[in-house]
Amino acid sequence: MIQEKLKMLTLQKDELFFLIMNNYDIIFAALLSIGVSLLLSKASRRVSSERSGIPGRQGIPFLGETLSFLSATNSTKGVYDFVRLRRLWHGKWFKTRLFGKTHVFVPSTEGAKAIFTNDFALFNKGFVKSMADAVGKKSLLCVPQESHKRIRRLLSDPFSMNSLSKFVQKFDYMLCERLKKLEEDGKSFVLLKFNMKIAFDAMCNMLMSITDTSLLQQIERDCTAISDAMLSFPVMIPGTRYYKGIKARTRIMKTFEAMIACRRRGKESQEDFLQTMLQRDSYPANEKLDDSEIMDNLLTLIIAGQTTTAAAMMWSVKFLDENREVQDRLREEQLAILKNKPDGYLLTLEDLNNMSYASKVIKETLRMSNVLLWYPRVALDDCTIEGYYIKKGWHMNVDATCIHYDPAFYKDPMQFDPSRFDEIQKPYSYIPFGAGPRTCLGINMAKATMSVFLHRLTGGYRWTVDDPDPSLERKAHIPRLRSGCPITLTALQDHKHAMTS
Ligand code: HEM
Repeated sequence: MIQEKLKMLTLQKDELFFLIMNNYDIIFAALLSIGVSLLLSKASRRVSSERSGIPGRQGIPFLGETLSFLSATNSTKGVYDFVRLRRLWHGKWFKTRLFGKTHVFVPSTEGAKAIFTNDFALFNKGFVKSMADAVGKKSLLCVPQESHKRIRRLLSDPFSMNSLSKFVQKFDYMLCERLKKLEEDGKSFVLLKFNMKIAFDAMCNMLMSITDTSLLQQIERDCTAISDAMLSFPVMIPGTRYYKGIKARTRIMKTFEAMIACRRRGKESQEDFLQTMLQRDSYPANEKLDDSEIMDNLLTLIIAGQTTTAAAMMWSVKFLDENREVQDRLREEQLAILKNKPDGYLLTLEDLNNMSYASKVIKETLRMSNVLLWYPRVALDDCTIEGYYIKKGWHMNVDATCIHYDPAFYKDPMQFDPSRFDEIQKPYSYIPFGAGPRTCLGINMAKATMSVFLHRLTGGYRWTVDDPDPSLERKAHIPRLRSGCPITLTALQDHKHAMTS
């Protein structure tokens, strides 16, 4: 037996020797080219880090590390795995080359401050043609500084406390009805899908008072196509994401135009965002938005608000499910609020202000889920940040995820612990809504939506998560569970419903 094994080993050794002798030229060439490329890449790394002081691999010309980036986007670990790995290799600050451009990932509060306080002056959002074509040139996401200031000021008005208070009641009513129906059905449902639909319906109601089911479905389909086209390759070839998005945009713009014309003819008047915009028709030009500004920004608000809020609500349920003590404490707070309410109540803004623990649960959810992983800007001039040399034209990504998981600011950062927000955060260490002139416009609306959601869910129900798979959705720029987090609801005893008349 042993002899046979020895014989086989000698045979394998002979075969290997034979293989090397016959292919030594190929093997030699392969070893040589590996050696040379290692030397070259080391040298280029040294040269590039010497120039800027920022370590990182620029990879081959143009492509750089694009393929690794795309492969991370396409994996169920999520695109942030690309960043996480490079940080392990190079350290906190690193740079890379993606789609022909140098990208720097900015991991610190100092870096975030330097960029946010110089937004528009030294840094700006990069111009992406597909984004401007899809969401519109007059969108807040695309306009230059002067228009941005005016459009933002005029758009903020409908996000006032008064409008928010109406929104809260409408959303609360809608949510109660839908949760009740799902609980009565007793079946498992995909939470992310539920959240996407309710966030969309509530937003369209608030912005334009749209309640017609088939119109809502058509606009939602078109918004999804537009959103998909925003980061696609801008060629008008039938079948491509860009083509579908542009077609969807044309349809939506027609719908908005018809709606505006109808309101102007006085056929319809509503108490909503669109009406407050149209009430300014007779104002001077710098005190109102023109029609294309109104329409592009209606679209922007829907697209910016729906997926973000829906994903955040989904993550809150996942985190609460994994942290039962937090869930119990949150439920206790919500039950104390509803104890003094009559049957059929609807929540008010004042109620939301009394949910101090819920607001910490929301903060912690946004810290850990990082719905937007990093915030992209382009350097408009050469500059230095924290001693690192930044070249004009470089893409600077403020890495909110890295900051939110930094143990220097958050002890045990992987632990879901809302009580950590008993303490005040250091400046720029908590930035889920960004900072500076481009801070999220929907910040209060997003928080209010999440508060109502958590109140109704924990105050009215218990739930089971029916698929524990932690894999993330592929090709999504917002981290979301691939399963969509299916859950089943059970009503709590003496559960109070909202008005259903
Ligand atoms: C949990 C939900 C949300 C999160 C985490 C979130 C996060 C953010 C962040 C981080 C930014 C700044 C990005 C940057 O600096 O590059 C932003 C911008 C923006 N968000 Fe939100 N958002 C949420 C919900 C909403 C909602 C509900 C709306 C609208 C109804 C909205 C509308 C906007 C708009 C219009 C901007 C662009 C602001 C500007 O460029 O001036 N967001 N959001």
